[in-house]
Amino acid sequence: MCRCCRGNRGKTKQLARFLIGATIYAVCSDTGGCEMTGQGLSYAKKCSVRIILEGQAPTGAWLASHTFNPYGFCWFRDGAFIADAMSRVGHVESAEAFFDWAAEVIYSRKERVKGGEILRARYTVEGEESEDEWPNFQLDGFGTLLWAIRAHAVRHNRPTEQWQEAIQVTLDYLARRWSEPCHDWWEEYSAIHPATLASIYAGLGAFDHPEADAVKAAINLKNAKLDASLIACVTPFRAVTHEEFKPTLEQIEQKLVNKAGGVHRHPKDTYYGGGEWLILTALLGWYYAQVGREKEALKKLERIAVHMDENGWLPEQTSQYMLAPKMRRYWFDKWGQPAHPLVWSHAMFLTLASELKISRTTRTN
Ligand code: BGC
Repeated sequence: MCRCCRGNRGKTKQLARFLIGATIYAVCSDTGGCEMTGQGLSYAKKCSVRIILEGQAPTGAWLASHTFNPYGFCWFRDGAFIADAMSRVGHVESAEAFFDWAAEVIYSRKERVKGGEILRARYTVEGEESEDEWPNFQLDGFGTLLWAIRAHAVRHNRPTEQWQEAIQVTLDYLARRWSEPCHDWWEEYSAIHPATLASIYAGLGAFDHPEADAVKAAINLKNAKLDASLIACVTPFRAVTHEEFKPTLEQIEQKLVNKAGGVHRHPKDTYYGGGEWLILTALLGWYYAQVGREKEALKKLERIAVHMDENGWLPEQTSQYMLAPKMRRYWFDKWGQPAHPLVWSHAMFLTLASELKISRTTRTN
């Protein structure tokens, strides 16, 4: 049992709420696997909902991080996962506000897209083209968007007609372009990425598009470069079976999970030193939850929660374990502190918590 947890748990009742939520986690963060009360996790959930609501622009979009200049845009990938998380925890309006924003961005470019222009990976919260140095041709966010809209509609028995025209533009776009190389989740290199195909498959499949099966058939995990985003092929996009995913899972568990249970992006990651990414720790936990490895899933949730600070913020990545520590300085000199908070981290925390049905009464020990 973790000594610092035991020390604090007795005093829990006297502690201010943020101490329950933040300090206990912070105290325990070096142990990487401490015990935590369900009350603490439920508090972290509350903080996450608050950060997401506070971070949502009146247009419905989210800046990826409001404190980190290079992330002053709304990514379709982040936004779709965030909206899905908000839908899961019952914030129907928040999820739908994002879908409204996304539908407007897409539909207003209908003719240009038909004429061969790409839909960009990110826009300003006002829905304008962004000026930044990253590659913009990424298809996964649009598949994830369609998948999230369908899941939301089913979950809350909501109509999708208001987005139908934009959905159609997106379906046509993905069905036409899915076999083109595009940039990966991390915007690092262009190729045909299994994780991208999986999200497109899920998006097309969500609206019964006949091209979905061809996309699925093109997914080849055997030759894929090791990357934790590959988890998305099985969870949540169900584009491969658990059996097919097994060898990749073993590689991820052996090579990308640090001894505290945090998950790194890929073996060659140098961005801010290549720390562990909370969204990926959550993604692996989500997979564990789906295959019934609940204890391990809960450990992942705790591993994320230990990084919540006194503002209730979760970062994009953490520096306790780094794959390329010498590179951290380079990025600090270039862009300052890494993204913190990252709205997507909060969303993935909520998603995993909802998979585990974390509530006020949950006991984790
Ligand atoms: C990540 C993307 C993410 C973006 C905004 C980038 O550093 O590589 O996956 O969408 O940040 O969070």
